[in-house]
Amino acid sequence: EKAGFDHFMLKEIYEQPKAYRDTMLGRIAEDGKSVNLKELTMTADYVKSIRKVHIVACGTAYHAGMVGKTVIESLARIPVETDVASEYRYRSPIITPDTLVIVVSQSGETADTLAALREAQRNGARVLAITNVVGSSVAREADDVLVTWAGPEIAVASTKAYTSQLIAFYLFGLHLATILGTKDEATVTGLIAAMNELPEQVESILENAPVLKQVAESISHHKSLFFIGRGVDYAVAQEGSLKLKEISYIHSEAYAAGELKHGTLALIEDGIPVIALVTQEELYEKTLSNIKEVKARGAHVFGLANAGSEAEVGKSVDELFAIPKTLPLLAPALSVVPLQLISYYASLALGHDVDKPRNLAKSVTVE
Ligand code: F6R
Repeated sequence: EKAGFDHFMLKEIYEQPKAYRDTMLGRIAEDGKSVNLKELTMTADYVKSIRKVHIVACGTAYHAGMVGKTVIESLARIPVETDVASEYRYRSPIITPDTLVIVVSQSGETADTLAALREAQRNGARVLAITNVVGSSVAREADDVLVTWAGPEIAVASTKAYTSQLIAFYLFGLHLATILGTKDEATVTGLIAAMNELPEQVESILENAPVLKQVAESISHHKSLFFIGRGVDYAVAQEGSLKLKEISYIHSEAYAAGELKHGTLALIEDGIPVIALVTQEELYEKTLSNIKEVKARGAHVFGLANAGSEAEVGKSVDELFAIPKTLPLLAPALSVVPLQLISYYASLALGHDVDKPRNLAKSVTVE
């Protein structure tokens, strides 16, 4: 049932191009000019009444929600807050009937996420669920559901569910933008065209897996490392760091690149690996100057950057892995893939149980 792969995690990483295609299937108009989310029951008038969005989730789904915040804010210009469900519930969140609460859950059974959904509804808010399990509790109780068609995810470490959640956010962001008129037709068409290219671009990243195996093996000798980035690169850095901790048990921290100098830079010492995400063109210069800060303290920097930016980024890093060029908002759907592979190969190199990491369960139904 692993279809020739050694582990479910690797199989699921390789299933991502299909998961992207299946999650987009039937949801994009033939002419590529609009999205079509027929399953949503919320009306256009309702969409126009939304004043704020709360995205609530746990773990990897929360990291997808961090990207979702940027997607919705930039496409629909509605203010978004993203929270971890176990915090949201207990901080008396200000939920009003004009708040759209989006819960994100692969399993649809995570106790804290389900409780957040109920709390939102109790306060008169509508809830949209992004979930991978059609008949799950979250799917049954939400007012609207966007299913991610990633297929069953068996490995404890989430991969294809996360990236399908990103696709769902892109689709929903475009849906809002179309109703609200916040983006012109050319921008919408451009985003859709770029989304259609993502599956093949992931395939090309997967073809380069052997290079990432080497990176993983070198990292596996270290006790601790850092992931840095700005904007959505920071959100992806957090997901990369969680994945690595979860299955390789190597300590790591994700940092907003500009925050390092406010304390954490003290931890950078000779030889420490730093994985720097550099996909946001308008932030290149800023991130490159943060890379210089860690290099000056002896860090070994592995850069993930857009193809075509090698000349600019290459000289600032020790090693560079190029990611196919896409629009800045869509970069997370590509840049996370090498990070998933690095975690996988690091876990393998250390001889851990990749699919069933210690202390963790696939579905967390306790609070
Ligand atoms: C990490 C991971 C977890 C889940 C989290 C939420 O790889 O899988 O962090 O993302 O437990 O689970 P769901 O999405 O089922 O609510």
